[in-house]
Amino acid sequence: MIEFRDVSLSYGYNVVLDKLNFKAQFHEKIAILGASGEGKTTILRLILGLVRPDEGKIFIDGQDITELSESELRDVRMKFSIVFQEGALFDSMNVYENVAFCLREYTRYPEDKIEKRVRELLNRLGIEDAVYLMPEELSGGMQRRVAIARSLAGCDPEMMLYDEATTGLDPLTADNICNLIKELSTGEPPDRMGFIIVTHKVTDAAKVAGRFIYIRKGNIIFDGDLVSLKKTEDAELRSFINELYFEYNETGR
Ligand SMILES: Nc1ncnc2c1ncn2[C@@H]1O[C@H](COP(=O)(O)OP(=O)(O)OP(=O)(O)O)[C@@H](O)[C@H]1O
Ligand SMILES: [Mg+2]
Repeated sequence: MIEFRDVSLSYGYNVVLDKLNFKAQFHEKIAILGASGEGKTTILRLILGLVRPDEGKIFIDGQDITELSESELRDVRMKFSIVFQEGALFDSMNVYENVAFCLREYTRYPEDKIEKRVRELLNRLGIEDAVYLMPEELSGGMQRRVAIARSLAGCDPEMMLYDEATTGLDPLTADNICNLIKELSTGEPPDRMGFIIVTHKVTDAAKVAGRFIYIRKGNIIFDGDLVSLKKTEDAELRSFINELYFEYNETGR
C-alpha cells in the first residue's frame, strides 16, 4: 500500500506538488497522466525515497518513508522495480551484463544461477537472441525490453514503476511494450504484481491501466476508471485525452 498524505514539493519557486493525497494498492494498475513537467517522474522518485517531500508524509505499507535513513530505504525500494524514463542501459555492457548487473551487485548468487535467471527473463521478454549485443545495436523497443528485464532481475517486486515506458517508440513497438506490461501483471489481486505507469501517451495508458490519475499544477484533478475519465467535464483534461474519444469511443462526445 502506498499513501501520499498532503505531500508538497517545490524546487525554488517552482511548486511541483501541492498537498497531494492518494492511496494505491500494490496490485493496482495505475496510469498517472499529466503534461510535461507536471511532476509525474517526481511522484515515482518520491515513492522510492529518491527525493524527500518538503512537507507531508509518504507511507509504504504503513511505514513513513520520509523519516527513513538510506539503508532503511533499501528495504522499501525492494518492493518496487522501476524502468526509468531514459531506459538508461549501461552503454559499455552487453545485454547479458546489463540484466545481470543488479544480481551481481546485490546478491551473492553464483554465476550459473545468475545466468539461468538472465536467460529466463530474456526469454520471457522475447529478446533471447540479443543476449550478447551492445545497447547501441538494439532498436528502441528492444532497449526498453532490456530495461524491463533488468528492472525485474534484481528482485521479485510487488509493484512495477514504468516511467514513460512507451514514449518515443513507434505505435507497433509501443503496443508490444503495452502487451508486455499487461502480461507481467496478470493474476488476481492481492497477489498480482501491479504497476504505476507514468505517461502522457493516453492511448497507451488506456490499453494497460484500470485506474487513471491526472495531475495538474501539483494536484490530482481526476482519479477514476476509463469510463469516467472519458466523461470528465474538465475542459483541459478533455483535450489532453482527446485521442481516446477517437480510438475507443467514437460516440463518447
Ligand atoms: N532536480 C531538480 N531540480 C530542479 N527542478 C527539478 C528537478 N527535478 C524536477 N524538477 C522540476 O520539477 C518539475 C516536475 O518534473 P518531473 O520530471 O516530475 O515532470 P514530468 O511530469 O515527469 O515531466 P515529463 O513528462 O517531461 O517527463 C519540472 O518543472 C522540473 O523542471
Ligand atoms: Mg517524467
